[in-house]
Amino acid sequence: MTMIRRRWGGARSAVSVAAAGLLAAAAIPVLAHQAAAADTLGSAAAAKGRYFGTAVAASHLGESAYAGTLDREFTAVTPENEMKWDATESTRGTFTFGAADQIVSHAQAHSMKIRGHTLVWHSQLPSWVSGLSASDLRTAMNNHITQVMQHYKGKIYAWDVVNEAFQDGGSGARRSSPFQDKLGNGFIEEAFRTARSVDPNAKLCYNDYNTDGINAKSNAVYNMVKDFKSRGVPIDCVGFQSHFNSASPVPSDYQANLQRFADLGVDVQITELDIEGSGTAQATNYANVVKACLAVSRCTGITVWGITDKYSWRSSGTPLLFDSNYTKKPAYDAVLSTLGGSGSGGGGGGGGTGATCSVSYAKTQEWSDRFNGQVTVTAGSAPISGWTVTVTVTPPQKISATWNGSPTWDSSGNVMTMRPNGNGSLAAGASTSFGFTVMKNGNSAAPAIGACTAS
Ligand code: G3I
Repeated sequence: MTMIRRRWGGARSAVSVAAAGLLAAAAIPVLAHQAAAADTLGSAAAAKGRYFGTAVAASHLGESAYAGTLDREFTAVTPENEMKWDATESTRGTFTFGAADQIVSHAQAHSMKIRGHTLVWHSQLPSWVSGLSASDLRTAMNNHITQVMQHYKGKIYAWDVVNEAFQDGGSGARRSSPFQDKLGNGFIEEAFRTARSVDPNAKLCYNDYNTDGINAKSNAVYNMVKDFKSRGVPIDCVGFQSHFNSASPVPSDYQANLQRFADLGVDVQITELDIEGSGTAQATNYANVVKACLAVSRCTGITVWGITDKYSWRSSGTPLLFDSNYTKKPAYDAVLSTLGGSGSGGGGGGGGTGATCSVSYAKTQEWSDRFNGQVTVTAGSAPISGWTVTVTVTPPQKISATWNGSPTWDSSGNVMTMRPNGNGSLAAGASTSFGFTVMKNGNSAAPAIGACTAS
């Protein structure tokens, strides 16, 4: 093991000065979005006038690989659970926004759109709500919408105002819920009218699953939206969750279904996309979904329901674009190339050679004053001849030692750019690791690991 000790203070070397220029490209995620000419999901979608989002859990934001992948690839977020009724108003009249605020702050700091999810839903509903009388429930529903939307007023791109209000199957009927059962059919309209009055600048969506193709359930939603539009009930968008697996495959009339809703004068959004499977079959399904959105001019964006298979609600079905190690899957390449991006066989930062790499981070040891971190660099589906990864610590933390890499530093000393300290070649899918010691100086935060650039 080669130990490279770094000196602090007067002897800052010419390397630091030369490395200062790396800061802008490597350490600021917003610039990373701009600089990464269509070699990320977000930048490729942006080139098509659309956002590419993901569901995010606040509890994972402290994990470097999770936040690093989020910041590199995505331009929109949906809190996976943190804005739901049980998270925001578990006790009547007492509102809790801490976890959702964390996601909103993170998204704002990285110029990401935020989809609010969700205001009125039969699930994840505290039991006190179902015990109310009709008039009390109406008051509680409107108060919930008002308080939550006011808290986030001006920050939300689109709200899922009402979620999953229709039954599965062939009836096209409304689902039984406290809202439906006590307030009747009018509760959806009332929720949308209240929502509009609170934040007139947020797009207001109806969101559901098993409405992705043309069927009895989507027909019922279609008829509701048509009725709302004809009567001036405020609705701006319809969300198609798009949770697919072998029992519920991507419908052949997916695009036609999106188009018929768009033709009613609403935006359509793919809001919770995940497709179980692996390899080419999964990749083809993802590509077909992206193609459908691109073919419908009012399809304004796609959100996948999570970043990594590791944290998916359907983890065993490996339905997402990154595997448990945050390695890009064939489905990722298919989505990127369908969006017109350059990663699929066209080079992801590797000068058009097909070279890509990914990183994961782990804390390997910890003492009271310091901890050791390890970054693993993994080549993508093509061999690479070199790689570059940034590690950013939070002042007053300092990196005091490194091994198995060749570091340079920005002028602040907080951003280390690591390259191979010898031959940087890695076969397709092969990995190497480097390590470093962080002096805590009172702060135990994990470092931010930037995207891996391959050559
Ligand atoms: O946070 C608690 C944890 O403290 C506890 O130890 C653990 C044990 O049960 O539960 C944890 O909460 C779980 C939560 O996810 C966070 O992981 C809940 O039990 C679990 O029910 C909840 O599941 C969520 C599910 O909605 C609830 O209906 C999934 O994460 C979330 O992905 C899923 O998302 C829904 C959309 O909102 C609407 N469309 C369908 C979609 C998939 O079901």
